Amino acid sequence: MARTDARTVPLDSTSRQALAASGFRYAVVDPADDDAARAYIQAESRGFLGGEQSDDEVAEFREQLAYRRWVGVYDAGADTGSAPVGTVNSWTGELSVPGERTVPFWAISGVTVSPTRRRRGIARAMLQGELRAGRDAGLAIAGLTVSEATIYGRFGFAPAVRTADWVIDTRRAGWAGPDAPGTLDHVDRSEAVALLGALHDRVRVNRPGEVDGWLGRWRQFAAVARGSEHPGRTRAVAYTSPQGERTGLLVYRITEDETDFARHTLDVRALFADGPDAYAALWRFVIEHDLVHRVHARLRSIEEPLPWMLRDERGLVSTVRDHGWLRILDVPAALRAREYSAVADVTIEVADPQGFATGCWSLQIGDDRRALIDRTGTSAQVQLSAAALAAGYLGGVRFSTLRGAGLVRGDSDAIAALDRAFTAPTAPRLGIWY
Ligand SMILES: CC(C)(COP(=O)(O)OP(=O)(O)OC[C@H]1O[C@@H](n2cnc3c(N)ncnc32)[C@H](O)[C@@H]1OP(=O)(O)O)[C@@H](O)C(=O)NCCC(=O)NCCS
Repeated sequence: MARTDARTVPLDSTSRQALAASGFRYAVVDPADDDAARAYIQAESRGFLGGEQSDDEVAEFREQLAYRRWVGVYDAGADTGSAPVGTVNSWTGELSVPGERTVPFWAISGVTVSPTRRRRGIARAMLQGELRAGRDAGLAIAGLTVSEATIYGRFGFAPAVRTADWVIDTRRAGWAGPDAPGTLDHVDRSEAVALLGALHDRVRVNRPGEVDGWLGRWRQFAAVARGSEHPGRTRAVAYTSPQGERTGLLVYRITEDETDFARHTLDVRALFADGPDAYAALWRFVIEHDLVHRVHARLRSIEEPLPWMLRDERGLVSTVRDHGWLRILDVPAALRAREYSAVADVTIEVADPQGFATGCWSLQIGDDRRALIDRTGTSAQVQLSAAALAAGYLGGVRFSTLRGAGLVRGDSDAIAALDRAFTAPTAPRLGIWY
């Protein structure tokens, strides 16, 4: 299915009116307009507490993110020049869902409001505008990654993908995993960029929760993006299988402990492996690296083999938290997009104060593991919010767990049937920020 070019999606008129009523102008920013683009990029950086962007960084942002729809909010009555007081950008991405398939979704990023205009409803107008624009463009799901877990629940988003950050004491953990038959070699960082993109594209479809990346993201991982910190300290190692195929890549950076040369810290910036051999070889390289005492790895799956490959799994401390947030915009289309793990015949009632997902639905999952879904009457076996449906959509949390939290109500057998059906072959994961 051809993806909708987000830049052709019009601004939402309801948000335009709401912002205008408060004295703000809502506008699409043209990345080709030097002044407007620069002001947008500087406003977004400041909004995320970043520094003023250099000319090189501005150029990188414009080149790499030109495919997105950039939206600014401007204070019509103030002397802020071309600087927006609110920013957001969006595009049509691909979200992997159970069944080794992907669904187009409305990806949202760069939500900032100037601290000088905070808590006047600008973010609300921008977010609701994005959701209506995504829905009107025919997307069934919206998604984002978040700075704070407290902001987006009110807009019907929920954390559908959890992630793990690891700190590994390498001496204690030790390697007890298998040997891999291939070879490891350092590759230069520009080669790493191409490999990151190729490997990610190969593996993401089998990993519910992953989204497609973009060249600029791989350039950042490999520290070749203009403005990258410590590019020279960023190294890459590729795994080559005995058949000569590059099936794994590690990008890492080592920092020294000035008091003890044997206690360096290795940061895993990316470790992508297509298959168990590449995975084992690259993690062994990390764990057994000479002079390294501690490893940091972020955005790992909550269900990975590594802890089972260590001599002492307590050498790995994992911190799990929310990462991939989803918002259901179209219940039938979202439920039809994925495959299920068991048959089911359940009626659900979805409550959505913003209206996108409101309704009673009959959900029938047959032997083909696909959903047939129709609107039904008002008495459903299971009642849940649009956010609870988003939380359980990829199988990242059971509906019975959400019932325990008071977020799902209804018949126990029907909830158990949903649990069996929505369980996915692997825990959802998302290895990038977007
Ligand atoms: C988060 C941010 C975008 C909010 O912008 P804002 O224009 O002040 O937000 P609004 O006035 O539209 O607030 C909308 C609602 O969200 C709530 N809210 C806003 N920021 C919040 C926060 N950080 N934590 C919890 N709630 C928040 C408001 O209280 C309001 O609640 P209510 O109307 O439901 O009672 C802004 O503070 C910001 O730019 N922060 C730094 C960058 C950032 O974290 N961006 C998010 C990226 S994922």
